[in-house]
Amino acid sequence: MEGKQWMLLLLLVVLLVAVSMDLSGYQLQSPLTAGYRSKAQEGAAEKVNGREVIKSSDSERLPIVANLSNCHASLTDAGVPVYCCPIWKDGDQELVDFQFPDPSSPMRIRRPIHKIDDEYRAKYARAVEIMKNLPDDHPHNYRRQANMHCLYCTGAYNQMSSEALYKIHRTWLFFPWHRAFLYFHERILGKLIGDENFSLIYWAWDHPDGMWFPEMFKNGSLIAMQRDPYHFQHAVDDNYARVERNLTDSEQILDNLALMYHQMVSGAKKSELFMGCKLRHGVSGFCDIPGTIEAAPHNTVHSWVGNRNNPEREYMGAFYSAARDPVFFGHHSEIDRMWTVWRRMRGNKHPATEFPDEDWLDTEFTFYDENVRLVRIKVRDVLDHTKLRYKYQDVDFRWLNARPKPSVAPHVARSILKKRHAEQQSLLRMPGSDQQQLEQQGNWTLDKPITVRLERPRVNRTKEEKEEEEEIIYIYGINTKRSSFVKFDVFVNVVEETVLSPRSREFAGTFVDIQHVSRSKDGMKMKSGLKLGISELLEDLEADGDDSIWVTLVPRGDAGSLNTTVEGLRIEYMR
Ligand code: C2O
Repeated sequence: MEGKQWMLLLLLVVLLVAVSMDLSGYQLQSPLTAGYRSKAQEGAAEKVNGREVIKSSDSERLPIVANLSNCHASLTDAGVPVYCCPIWKDGDQELVDFQFPDPSSPMRIRRPIHKIDDEYRAKYARAVEIMKNLPDDHPHNYRRQANMHCLYCTGAYNQMSSEALYKIHRTWLFFPWHRAFLYFHERILGKLIGDENFSLIYWAWDHPDGMWFPEMFKNGSLIAMQRDPYHFQHAVDDNYARVERNLTDSEQILDNLALMYHQMVSGAKKSELFMGCKLRHGVSGFCDIPGTIEAAPHNTVHSWVGNRNNPEREYMGAFYSAARDPVFFGHHSEIDRMWTVWRRMRGNKHPATEFPDEDWLDTEFTFYDENVRLVRIKVRDVLDHTKLRYKYQDVDFRWLNARPKPSVAPHVARSILKKRHAEQQSLLRMPGSDQQQLEQQGNWTLDKPITVRLERPRVNRTKEEKEEEEEIIYIYGINTKRSSFVKFDVFVNVVEETVLSPRSREFAGTFVDIQHVSRSKDGMKMKSGLKLGISELLEDLEADGDDSIWVTLVPRGDAGSLNTTVEGLRIEYMR
């Protein structure tokens, strides 16, 4: 056994003794979760050896922590072996607990790239240049910083006390891990140039003025050769499927704004829809359902920047190499900003946090701070960015007013659909045999669009009921036969599927997977899923009183999507 595991064992023993002596009256409740303890959290927390330990009724439950003593080779998104580990062992370093910066220290203001001046551009480039020139074996070296991302996206560490890999994409760890990564990166850059006010900058691909590849990243230390120069001429496609749609710039902008409205507003009414699925400790806790923004524009813009001539569209198109491109940090500052915006839009809604769930709040990340100390930081530490002493200077939210309209008048569409249904051609292609089944089962290949009629257990719910529980389409058992980029869009009640984009209200969301192969311990492929909130969309389509809807999955992009199979779809309700 390694040192860490001994520690853990010791803690467990201490815990068991404490429980058996009935000393469990001592509870340490976080203000964030006070009063919101769900079944999974019935246990209490206490400090043992300076470290908070969860006493759970479920003795299996452990927060996710990386086992730093064993960094190993890992696989890229396409399943190619990579090695991102440092030459030293992070497990041998002293690990210090995160301390918040002094509340009187300057608030760093992250501004949009398209609005900063030459002086700031030069300063930013200088800081990155110094970072690139640090010795290779320095934890602050740019390449090492990029490899931090590689470690946690490819699974170079296992979770403590488990065979499961520690990975941070396509789950509720996506936003908090990247926030912590950026936080330390920003402070290191600031330290390198001796500027306490230094801040990252963001690529505002949600605003028409920011929808181009940022010029400043075409120069000096901010260049990366592995990009797609063809895209420099066009507005960014926030919903890019690795094929060119050749829209005019103004059409593209409208498309992007409508997509943003969907991903930030109508499709993101619940934390899990916005943030991603609840990853739990261990192999059995695996989940793979990204939040709206992670799928697009996050995955899509990664793909759009990367070099199409490389096998995985490196750099930006593959997570193992993405952070080698300095524009990664502009992209992720924007992603992080979207989290702050979404959180603000929720207002003072209870609960006060996205997930009042200690499995999430206690998940640990480790990073080198600006003083080259290895720091342990938890999800609960990053929830309030002002405590981390940075803020965003926002640009106006054009997408807020981009609520799409139905592409066909709803009453016309519904009567066509009903007629088709009566004539037994309700489905463009009919998977499964029993149309009446509430839960459509099958294993359908997405080599062409498929349409499924789904029954809705509840119709015409009240406003309060809808706020309490969002109606969702759950597409489960998504499987790719080979590792390849996969994208498909989902629409509700469409009669004419050829003209569809996020600009039609029928658009319910998108599945985007960057050549992703998740493997469990025995090399089995794990399946993905997609959950899409549709309450608002059904109102706009005047379908809220209907006892069934037609759901169409439209494969996008190249062959990858054609090799994708789906096990089934059903309507669910999400709290
Ligand atoms: Cu960790 Cu944009 O990827």
